[in-house]
Amino acid sequence: MVNILVVGSGGREHALSWKLSQSNKVETVYTAPGNGGTENNIPIDVTDLDGLAEFAQKNNCFTVVGPEDPLASGIVDKFNKLNLKVFGPSQAAAQLESSKIWAKNFMKRNDIPTAQFQIFDNAQKAIEYVKSIDFNVVVKADGLAAGKGVIVCNSVDDAISAIETILVKKTFGDAGNKIIVEERIDGIEASYIALSDGNVALPMASSQDHKRVFDDDKGPNTGGMGAYSPTPIVTDVLAKTIQKEVIEKTIHAMKNEGISFKGFLYAGIMIKDNKPYVLEYNVRMGDPECQPITMRMDFDLYDYFTASVDGTLSSLPPLSWKDQYAVCVVLASDGYPGSYPKNEEITGFDSISNGTNVFHAGTKKSDGKVLSNGGRVLGVTSLGDTLDSAINNAYSEIKKINWPNKIYRTDIGKKGLSYF
Ligand code: AMP
Ligand code: GLY
Repeated sequence: MVNILVVGSGGREHALSWKLSQSNKVETVYTAPGNGGTENNIPIDVTDLDGLAEFAQKNNCFTVVGPEDPLASGIVDKFNKLNLKVFGPSQAAAQLESSKIWAKNFMKRNDIPTAQFQIFDNAQKAIEYVKSIDFNVVVKADGLAAGKGVIVCNSVDDAISAIETILVKKTFGDAGNKIIVEERIDGIEASYIALSDGNVALPMASSQDHKRVFDDDKGPNTGGMGAYSPTPIVTDVLAKTIQKEVIEKTIHAMKNEGISFKGFLYAGIMIKDNKPYVLEYNVRMGDPECQPITMRMDFDLYDYFTASVDGTLSSLPPLSWKDQYAVCVVLASDGYPGSYPKNEEITGFDSISNGTNVFHAGTKKSDGKVLSNGGRVLGVTSLGDTLDSAINNAYSEIKKINWPNKIYRTDIGKKGLSYF
């Protein structure tokens, strides 16, 4: 039996902890720092790599890293040096997410489909460029900006103001020392996530996120307001194309460049005219995509995590998935992704039905009560035999959970319904 340390505090980490605790090889799952829903919380921040290593060593843990920040800071390299088992990509592999410029150049030299782009560190030159072209652009800060460093533009004026926001006003700090100006592709977005051991990559079930805060994709981008799996948008044919042209090409090209990619590889895909384009890579599970995907897993996740670390994924049986849909509706606090109130009591957990999991994100426990403690607060995730029934189940369950400033989108999964 092994102990697990899940690093992180979001809905993704609650879902991973929940799934890993079902393995008969797993003794105790610790979460650092965790949230109001996770058990065995350890008060160590995700950036305190020394503290995490010390805990993992003392408690003989296999460590699973949820978010990108510790991966980009080299948690995996550090743990490997100490001979601690850890699931996730190395710092070099994490560049696919931590530097958008590195990722774009990598895609270009390896012929991986992505939008055409230019790189700038000088605002005047970037402005001259956007004035000289006849297509809309997306302006992206190079570094990690908590999912906020991407500005989708509808006009040259928008593009100029985005360039100034990132390069001149430095709204995202040093993450915006350089920018990418890339062609805007208007299509349908999906998340394609695979699990790799550096040699092969096993596709996770398909999923679709809902990034904007309001219904009908209105309002600012967020970390994700809901997700469902599988999505009919990713047809079998498209899935095969993405697997071959994006995922396998990426893993093999990384290997050829001397970097073994182990862990979850997430490609944010835009589908246009039936062709996939990579908008971004993430080097971790998506949040909230992880919540519906883990609900559908019919396998021991711990086995696959150890095989990813050991480079033995090809010796395991194919992944099997529940033949059901799962829908996660994020309950957030009014104001998110801007500022929002905290410390409001949340009620109604006791009346949740079977087939639904309430994954916690921004919550904490205090005196036996659950209090709101973040922008995205809960991810109510329900199974159903059809997409329609999974949506109905999730929306009837969320009525049971309340706090004063609860908000949510009412159209999670709706885009998928139009495919049936
Ligand atoms: P990223 O963090 O790079 O995935 O960008 C955040 C969001 O911006 C994506 O989920 C898309 O909705 C949008 N986006 C990014 N790049 C493009 C692009 N080239 N064309 C259209 N939309 C984009
Ligand atoms: N849901 C998008 C992300 O995890 O980046």
